[in-house]
Amino acid sequence: MAKTLVITGATKGIGKACAYRFAKEGVNIAFTYNSNEEFAKEIALDLEAKFGIKARYYPYNILEPETAKDLFLQIDEDFDSVDYFISNAMIYGRAVVGGYNKFMKLKPRGLNNIYIATVDAFVCGAQEAAKRMEKVGGGAIVSLSSTGNLVYIENYAGHGTNKAAVEAMVRYAATELGEKGIRVNAVSGGPIETDALRAFTNYEEVAAQTAALSPLGRMGQPDDISGACWFLCNEEAGWITGATLIVDGGTTFKK
Ligand SMILES: NC(=O)c1ccc[n+]([C@@H]2O[C@H](COP(=O)([O-])OP(=O)(O)OC[C@H]3O[C@@H](n4cnc5c(N)ncnc54)[C@H](OP(=O)(O)O)[C@@H]3O)[C@@H](O)[C@H]2O)c1
Repeated sequence: MAKTLVITGATKGIGKACAYRFAKEGVNIAFTYNSNEEFAKEIALDLEAKFGIKARYYPYNILEPETAKDLFLQIDEDFDSVDYFISNAMIYGRAVVGGYNKFMKLKPRGLNNIYIATVDAFVCGAQEAAKRMEKVGGGAIVSLSSTGNLVYIENYAGHGTNKAAVEAMVRYAATELGEKGIRVNAVSGGPIETDALRAFTNYEEVAAQTAALSPLGRMGQPDDISGACWFLCNEEAGWITGATLIVDGGTTFKK
């Protein structure tokens, strides 16, 4: 029977790349969108046409993570199992005001929103996924993280601290879910060329700096991350749990 990936925020960037990577392996895709329903519709049709798998899309706001329960109930109606879960979506724009800023300008509301969207959304999504994985004898969960929790990125204190928190939460989840055959890991990306990065006030500078810092001489692309997510979910990574895989083109050490 075909396996199913549930992934949040797959209308573009890293989430979309993951949806295509898993579909290429014959995995069915249940993915969420927030504002771009049209993109979601096009992606679902394209995934089904290209890979002959089943793809469905659902609205989901990671600022309301308790609604993960309803999201998974909807997914239950369309799919027989949940085998993989990737907590990928991230907020930007007005929701991160007071969170995406220099240290002296940080405000609790912006910081708290990033915590909800990063840690709470991972916890609520992974809980629902784990209940279903248990029924089929196991599965794999991945949280997206960022090397901005290891090295300084301007205005990134809110995101960086919450990525550090979600990596710690991943280790706790992994420790308690292992006995159910569920592995939990994080993929921590260096700067990857997506809309989220283009929204950085100093995008041009970050892009040029990343290519200059990387021994590989280029920015990261969404497919660099989707390959790592697929690796961590499939059986070849069967003894990897509670880990953070850094995919940064060698930039962190050189910084
Ligand atoms: N880009 C990087 O440099 C980088 C590096 C390391 C880690 N990461 C991490 O990788 C993940 C994906 O980032 P990305 O760069 O691929 O982002 P992106 O291209 O901007 O895509 C963001 C996704 O999140 C969804 N989204 C936005 N607001 C949402 C909300 N309130 N509720 C639910 N979904 C929402 C968007 O859906 P709609 O389009 O429907 O609004 C979209 O699918 C994030 O966790 C990010 O922190 C990124």
